[in-house]
Amino acid sequence: MKWLAKAAFGLEGQVSRDLKRLGFEGVTPAETGGVFFDGSPAQAYEANLWMRCADRIMLVMGQEKVTTFDDLFEMTRALPWSDVIPRDGAFPVQAHCARSQLMSPSDCQAIVKKAVAEHMKSRYRVAWCEESGQSYPIDVAIHGDMATISLNTSGDALNKRGYRTWNGEAPLRETLAAALLLGCGWRPSLPLYDPCCGTGTLLIEGAFIAADRAPGLTRSFACDNWPLFPERARTALRAQARERYEKGFERPMRVMGSDIDAGALELCRRHLRQAGLSGRVTVEQKDLRDVTLALPQGVFIANPPYGERLGDRRSAAAVERGLGQLYLRHPGWSLSAISSDPAFERNAGLRADRRRRFYNGRLECELLSFAPRPSHHT
Ligand SMILES: C[S@@+](CC[C@H](N)C(=O)[O-])C[C@H]1O[C@@H](n2cnc3c(N)ncnc32)[C@H](O)[C@@H]1O
Repeated sequence: MKWLAKAAFGLEGQVSRDLKRLGFEGVTPAETGGVFFDGSPAQAYEANLWMRCADRIMLVMGQEKVTTFDDLFEMTRALPWSDVIPRDGAFPVQAHCARSQLMSPSDCQAIVKKAVAEHMKSRYRVAWCEESGQSYPIDVAIHGDMATISLNTSGDALNKRGYRTWNGEAPLRETLAAALLLGCGWRPSLPLYDPCCGTGTLLIEGAFIAADRAPGLTRSFACDNWPLFPERARTALRAQARERYEKGFERPMRVMGSDIDAGALELCRRHLRQAGLSGRVTVEQKDLRDVTLALPQGVFIANPPYGERLGDRRSAAAVERGLGQLYLRHPGWSLSAISSDPAFERNAGLRADRRRRFYNGRLECELLSFAPRPSHHT
């Protein structure tokens, strides 16, 4: 079966690497933001549990060129809906169109809804679809006249891990935070320190990676009760993920952080509690200019304020200068910071060894990485 791991712009590379590591075949980039892969329903369930950087796992029902509503109707009606959706299943439809002849998402939604209903009525020999049962959300993406029709097996986006209750001022999406951690050269054997930890997203995602905790371990998915996904396989995959976490939780981990703002830290502590990580991740209230660590090596990671608003530029520049000094005070430590500020390097007084482009929401950002400087031993 063909699946699509939807992902935000810039995260597709990491999603492809993660899919290959999970052993999937046919891993190919999709034009519409994501990565296709082949596998069984049980494997797709595993992807829901384990993918750290994907937004949703979709079951691809069909892909075809469409230029008229008739094309869309015929394509949709011919797809094997009744193989997946039971007689009483509900099937809400969502459509998006871009650079295509069919431009109206609401009309496309109505056409697809009607075509699926036609299919279901004829297969189940009923006069109407009750839609009183479980939900099977249908997604229609038409890009440059190519329609991809799929079922959303995840339900809520996968960045919703279940530990965040209140968002704070400028939180990082969990999927982006995980991608930054996986791409910055950190590995769990190294200490990790976030000097602008805010509500704690980078620290929590880092601790999850260090403890081998499946990001979806404590949440549910839309497909949890779909007959297509065998219950035994689902139960076994969840049990295996719990076992891996129990073992991983015992491993030594050094994940730490600080923030100048007491309110942000309160949220951070709440999120740590909700993620089951109290006591495993240490945070304290501190200006980053006062951070001094005695450990000989490690990784600083930061999502500092970007100074997007005019009045905030000076304080953002001061934080960037502080990050530069923090890095220089700690030979043996690398620094990776994500920012949309083109003056970051100038303000920090450093030149990045590596830069990668990401979007934080709509903001184009760079992850700037500064390699560890050798420590001088006497
Ligand atoms: C963009 S937010 C970080 C959001 C965080 N990644 C999250 O997921 O919640 C930037 C953080 O930098 C902190 N900050 C600003 N100036 C600071 C300073 N001088 N020292 C330490 N933290 C500072 C702010 O309090 C804020 O929490």
